[in-house]
Amino acid sequence: MQLFLDTASIDEIRKYARYGVVSGVTTNPSLLAKEGGVSYRERILEIAEVVDGPISAECVSRTADELVAEARELASWHPNVVVKIPIDEEGLEAIHRCSREGIRINTTLIFTANQAMLAAMAGAAYLSPFVGRLDDVSTDGMELIRTCVEIVERHGYGARVLAASLRHPMHVVQAALVGAHVATIPPTLIPQMLKHPLTDSGIHRFLEDAKTAGLL
Ligand code: G3P
Repeated sequence: MQLFLDTASIDEIRKYARYGVVSGVTTNPSLLAKEGGVSYRERILEIAEVVDGPISAECVSRTADELVAEARELASWHPNVVVKIPIDEEGLEAIHRCSREGIRINTTLIFTANQAMLAAMAGAAYLSPFVGRLDDVSTDGMELIRTCVEIVERHGYGARVLAASLRHPMHVVQAALVGAHVATIPPTLIPQMLKHPLTDSGIHRFLEDAKTAGLL
């Protein structure tokens, strides 16, 4: 499983990219709105200088023709741009048309296996089921990831399942266990995944003993 950062914050991306665990970035209008009016294109280009991997940028058009035009524009910004399109009737047509012309599509706002299957059939490169938002409405979001992975792998669709709307460290472990190809996470999850109080106290004890042993 690859780890992507789900943020438009260049500071957060710079901070965590140095660990060597970030393979890509996903953004959306809500994440961009937190960035104080920065141009979307400028931010994507800044991200591309830090992370050498897929960078999702999301369309906001509502008709297939407009989505295709917007996707072409977003994809022209940088070769690593993957265009996010929400799954609905117009979106599905746009996914198909864009994929046919070589624009990689990340299908977003997936909440059912049927939505995922249709997007995979239409040629999407990534399928993004929203785990946390399903959990929010008393539905097992991770079960949808498991189902999507099974469908994609059993039928040999080219799409990769990207577990999105992950909210806590155990979501990441569960996504890995059910076979998600990618997990996109808020940057704050990295320190949460990394930290353990026994590691901290163990380091402290080793340092104390190192002083006793004359190593320090
Ligand atoms: O990856 C999609 C994500 O940005 C949505 O997260 O927490 O708003 O459901 P959330």
